[in-house]
Amino acid sequence: MELFVHDSPADVAARTASLIAESIADKSGPFSLGLAGGSSPKPTYDRLREIDVAWQGVHAWLGDERWVPHDSDRSNGRMASDSLFSHVSASLVRPDYGDDPEAAASAYEQELGEIEAMAGRHDIVILGLGDDGHTASLFPGSAALAESDRKYVANRIPETGEIRLTATYPLLHEAARVIFIVTGRSKAEALEASLAGETPAGKVGQGRATVEWHVDRDAASLLS
Ligand code: 6PG
Repeated sequence: MELFVHDSPADVAARTASLIAESIADKSGPFSLGLAGGSSPKPTYDRLREIDVAWQGVHAWLGDERWVPHDSDRSNGRMASDSLFSHVSASLVRPDYGDDPEAAASAYEQELGEIEAMAGRHDIVILGLGDDGHTASLFPGSAALAESDRKYVANRIPETGEIRLTATYPLLHEAARVIFIVTGRSKAEALEASLAGETPAGKVGQGRATVEWHVDRDAASLLS
């Protein structure tokens, strides 16, 4: 696990965008790119629109998705599409939305398996961090934390009862590289606990993936 503390959220966005662009440029053949939702990665997606990237070989997908219609302003897929993927030639595969989240998660797991087979491994998975230490939709106390076989599941958030679809540790642990993007003072306690391995996000580092934390000074304010 490596920690990179940057001066500002803009510096986090600039650095992570260039890391992702470099990684895509360095690989010949299909590239698997898992996307974080929420607000933290959006500046990175915006910066990637300004960089000349060989997008045609990139297969993007969602590390998690809220159980909402594709055009909902809460959809992670809509955010990723609006900020980057409707502007470049990469493919973005999104989970279906309908009346059966388990079936949608299972079908998406199949699609991601095909991407992983084409690329060899999921090359990069971008993740965010919730102020409760969740990542993707692996929330504290949720059933998906114990999933040891399936790579993508429907998961109920204990606090709210909301259903989400999420990658699980079996997928995240096998990725080549995980890039966390964490900014803001509200994340400082969760970041400190995550780096100690005490949160769902902190447990992403227990697999084969190379894990990099790209954070700003506010998020790092409790780190010694
Ligand atoms: C989501 C995300 C989630 C996110 C964290 C941080 O669906 O919201 O995938 O895991 O990364 O909740 O969200 P912010 O970046 O908005 O703080």
